[in-house]
Amino acid sequence: MSLIAKIYPNEVPQLLRSIETQGYAVLENAVTDEGLSWFRQWIEEVSTGSGQGYHAIFGDVEKIDHTPLATLSENDNFRQLMQSMAEKSLGRPLPEQNILAVLRCVQGESGKKKTNTFHYDASVITALLPVEIPQHGEARGDLVMFPNLRPFRASVLFNVIEKTLMQNRLARYLLTKAIKYRLLKPMTLYLKPGNLYFFYGYRSLHANGACDPAFRRATALFHFGDPHYGSTLTRSIVKLNRLLAR
Ligand SMILES: [Fe+2]
Repeated sequence: MSLIAKIYPNEVPQLLRSIETQGYAVLENAVTDEGLSWFRQWIEEVSTGSGQGYHAIFGDVEKIDHTPLATLSENDNFRQLMQSMAEKSLGRPLPEQNILAVLRCVQGESGKKKTNTFHYDASVITALLPVEIPQHGEARGDLVMFPNLRPFRASVLFNVIEKTLMQNRLARYLLTKAIKYRLLKPMTLYLKPGNLYFFYGYRSLHANGACDPAFRRATALFHFGDPHYGSTLTRSIVKLNRLLAR
């Protein structure tokens, strides 16, 4: 089955220019209709087994073998593209790393808790594939972000302190209020299923916006390039984040 319609590693300079200038880059219709159908079929199966609440599945577990999530994250062209983007952004080669793939389903009342949970990712480049996005109404769960808000930090400790200050209930509450009263204006990225969106997850404070609990918002996320690779502190935080997400 052809999952990816077009991924060309030589598109990196153009993609990075877009990320630098407008906060994100997009490869339109990068995933085929056939590929999207496969994803949706799989998500339906996963959702049935997980109840109708919020859930996330991480791509480093065996249960995603032979799923579209694994197939896409193991695609050579996609991996090369992600690696090249991350290395050019950092200005240095990175040790051998895999793409960390995550399937995230926001649905039902429990999904509301996952709205506006602003955060920085641990990895340089984040690619987001919308699989199911409600196409009607205002609460579609689009991506809300403050792009390129911070540089790549040289110090892992500084990174941790910064994340701790920004990723807590009080900070998120204040941020959400400031957005509500238009004191701060984040960018809203209107997501279209099948497109692949790229942004600096590490540098951009981001979250999904409100999502109508009657609809399911399913996205596949692909992370590549840990700038603090090898740090025990970072590894522990990533593990903790996964546990919390589960
Ligand atoms: Fe993220």
